[in-house]
Amino acid sequence: MTSPVQALVLVGGKGTRLRPLTLSAPKPMLPTAGAPFLTHLLSRIREAGITDVVLGTSYQAQVFADHYGDGADLGLNLTYVTEDVPLGTGGGIRNVYDALTADTVLVFNGDVLGGTDIRDVLDTHQKSGAEVTLHLVRVGDPRAFGCVPTDADGRVTAFLEKTQDPPTNQINAGTYVFNRSVIGEIPAGRAVSVEREVFPSLLAQGRHIHAHVDDAYWRDMGTPEDFVRGSADLVRGIAPSPAVAKPCGESLVLEGAQVAADAVLIGGTVVGRGARIGSGARLDGAVVFDGAGVEAGAVVERSIIGFDAVIGSHALVRDTVVGDGAKVGARCELLRGARVWPGVELPDNGIRFSTDV
Ligand code: GDD
Ligand code: MG
Repeated sequence: MTSPVQALVLVGGKGTRLRPLTLSAPKPMLPTAGAPFLTHLLSRIREAGITDVVLGTSYQAQVFADHYGDGADLGLNLTYVTEDVPLGTGGGIRNVYDALTADTVLVFNGDVLGGTDIRDVLDTHQKSGAEVTLHLVRVGDPRAFGCVPTDADGRVTAFLEKTQDPPTNQINAGTYVFNRSVIGEIPAGRAVSVEREVFPSLLAQGRHIHAHVDDAYWRDMGTPEDFVRGSADLVRGIAPSPAVAKPCGESLVLEGAQVAADAVLIGGTVVGRGARIGSGARLDGAVVFDGAGVEAGAVVERSIIGFDAVIGSHALVRDTVVGDGAKVGARCELLRGARVWPGVELPDNGIRFSTDV
């Protein structure tokens, strides 16, 4: 039996803005509130009653299949379509065309944390009779996104990807409903951007693209700052996810982690499996991956500490990404925007860094 709606999640990007964490894992597989980020999205799709899901993979494709297999653990029928050479967002959508059996296809960017009821987006699509429906949200600064003006009836009038001069604060939230036949029209066998090519070209042809606008929780997790905030919002229950059993309060400590009794964990901090937090350490909005260590008296704020990395005693780490296995010496200061490359060892000398090391 074919399912009436299928979902495609685009997960082929390289996650460059989250390097060096994305050197060892693709962005959607980075741990967030106890699960790979993608698990939160897949659980929302399942919650909406959609079970047939295709992952459009490219970068580190095998990591997804190794973790999710056929999707049965999540109650899904998961299949994979891999681009040997990345085909971009539009090319990635076109590339799964032969694997699609349903007439209605929900497409998701794989790095969005959202609270929108997916069924409502489908309803909007069905009611308007459009060929494509875009989920839109309003943001303070639209320049980093696809800016999408609409008319009084909710029809999309233009699609302006990452423009410096956005005419509206309504942006593309990265969830689309496509009538399957439209996917078949995307040029095959080459890289295509759905944002820069497919949507503008459909609009130029006068085709009906409709908007579903709402005010639900929404965040693109593509930068360290957003990743940290999204993770904290999941822990605190501000971002809803069926994969987080209940709001955890100010922190989430996963199995096998050891946290000193006088350590302070606030701001939606996550302490990964087997991680160690020393006496008097203070973690505020920290994302500590499995196996990492934060030694006595260290302060970690709004930062991501990679797998098995160690933060030395009395170090100060703020708005920083520390790569897997790196060692930050005692009393070092890592400040706004610093990124420590995997395996790097910074000596115990209290040096201050605010750039890549
Ligand atoms: N399969 C495949 N192949 N997937 C890809 C490829 C590719 O070549 N390139 C990117 N992706 C996936 C990424 O893994 C990600 O899940 C999604 O497509 C979007 O790519 P990003 O690199 O995260 O794009 P963005 O955040 O700069 O902008 C996009 O998302 C915004 C909302 O979050 C655009 O769609 C914007 O218009 C939108 O506002
Ligand atoms: Mg993104």
